[in-house]
Amino acid sequence: MFFVTTAIDYPNGKPHIGHAYEKVLADVLTRYQRLKGMPSFFLTGVDQHGQKMVKTAEAEGVNVATLTKRNTKGFIRLWEKLGVDYDGWAETTDERHKACVQAILSKLEKKGSLYKKSYAGHYSIRQEQYLTDRDRNDDGEFGSEWGEVEEREEENWYFKLSDHVEWLRSTVESDDLKIFPKFRKNEVLNALERSGDTDLCISRPKERMSWGIPLPFDPDFVTYVWFDALINYISFAGYLKAEGSDFPDFDSLWPADLQIIGKDILVPAHAVYWPCMLHAMGFEASEMPTLLVHGFWNVRGDKMSKSLGNIVDPDELADKFGPETLRYYLCRDIRSGKDSDFDIERLVMLFNTELANDLGNLLNRSINMTKGFCNSTISDTNTSDDEDLALRESLTRSIDAYRKAMDACEVSVALQAINDHVTHCNGYLERHKPWEMKKDESKLARVGEILSHTAESCAQLAVLLRPILPNAATKIFSQLKKEDLTEFTLDDLKWGLLEAGHQTGKPKPVFPRIQVEEK
Ligand code: ME8
Ligand code: MG
Repeated sequence: MFFVTTAIDYPNGKPHIGHAYEKVLADVLTRYQRLKGMPSFFLTGVDQHGQKMVKTAEAEGVNVATLTKRNTKGFIRLWEKLGVDYDGWAETTDERHKACVQAILSKLEKKGSLYKKSYAGHYSIRQEQYLTDRDRNDDGEFGSEWGEVEEREEENWYFKLSDHVEWLRSTVESDDLKIFPKFRKNEVLNALERSGDTDLCISRPKERMSWGIPLPFDPDFVTYVWFDALINYISFAGYLKAEGSDFPDFDSLWPADLQIIGKDILVPAHAVYWPCMLHAMGFEASEMPTLLVHGFWNVRGDKMSKSLGNIVDPDELADKFGPETLRYYLCRDIRSGKDSDFDIERLVMLFNTELANDLGNLLNRSINMTKGFCNSTISDTNTSDDEDLALRESLTRSIDAYRKAMDACEVSVALQAINDHVTHCNGYLERHKPWEMKKDESKLARVGEILSHTAESCAQLAVLLRPILPNAATKIFSQLKKEDLTEFTLDDLKWGLLEAGHQTGKPKPVFPRIQVEEK
């Protein structure tokens, strides 16, 4: 089973464009695995505990449980709207998850991996962590990125992270823990170079923060943030599940084939804490998840933030431009691992050029002319004309490039491969001008061959587009009067999806142009 997971989002507000990108990316990559015929499981969800939730609830004057439920619904509704089709939904207030976290904590405590001590230091409320001198800026201050910082002394429980750091270094070096893209692996190795012997604080005194999971061996404390959130990847995958639980079979899922996260939570959470936690639980180097680290969506070079008031709302965009327009843009305008600028003008431009104009027009012309000049009938396309051979080669090249890119999780490169063939097909039509050829009765058979080459191309491109634009791909198929899009795997893609004699349908724009409002 191919197992895809994502970070679980903080539902302390509405989902933003970064959340939407990550979930769409995971959805696209899972659908791609299915297109290859690979049984797959996609887990995502929300990270509901912690001080951030409590603070937001206080600010809004509602109970934290109420806020959590209400905001969680907002995430679920958006994923529905965007066609993010997950198989497992992780909510950290779920009793089954809590039981799993507690069982893990008990086991680690018995093994001697946890201890209690008193600690005094500077605490960042925004990041919910103690700061060290390394976190000070050049002026010796804690910068504004930490938010409000206060001095605190309290007793807490700690996880002996330092026991595992040497093991982790060799596990990252040997690629048993795989980290993509490659430059992120170096970041992790550099961070391990710098990391001292600090252990990980895993608790908060209940009197100060009760919105977490009680420690089974010391009920005056709760665990939250990383020891709660990270465990979602295994608890909801069926690790230590109760008898009769409908969670999946853990052994068929783990290790995760893709654990998709943003760059801000790679170090230390996912590349240090998480593998060390797994190792302490008894997982071996060969049982580590594969991390896929994506970049950030910024707005005109700025980080999105509440204080700048520049948060991009995916819900509004989906309503305004359509969910698949947003899916297309999110996949198209960010390179795997890199940051990108969210730009509505580019969203409109890319949709209007690549989908409305190029692909939409290709489909529309192919079906329209096949209907008008060829009685909606596909001709034999096993021709030996040089241009026809070149078109068929272009398609083969695009399919190969698409496959290679998707296997490397480079969705934007895969879209480029699709667009390359669309461009080839449009050039082929422009050179042949079937709309003029058809005036000469003796050339009608050739007109049929030409249009059948572009119609066949549209059918195959629809299969390739399915993971990214499932609805549009279905519409393309149905206008070509092919009904069985979901039955195709990538390996079934051979020339001749539309056989000679096949009847195509009526054209109807699949990608109507977005009209830009006059300013
Ligand atoms: O970090 N562009 O939650 P979160 C792209 N609950 N991705 C972005 C982004 C942006 N501008 N902003 C955030 C958390 N993300 C924890 C995770 S996992 C066990 C717990 C990504 O709501 C971010 O990198 O702050 C992360 O992968 C995800 O959105 C959730 O961020
Ligand atoms: Mg697996």
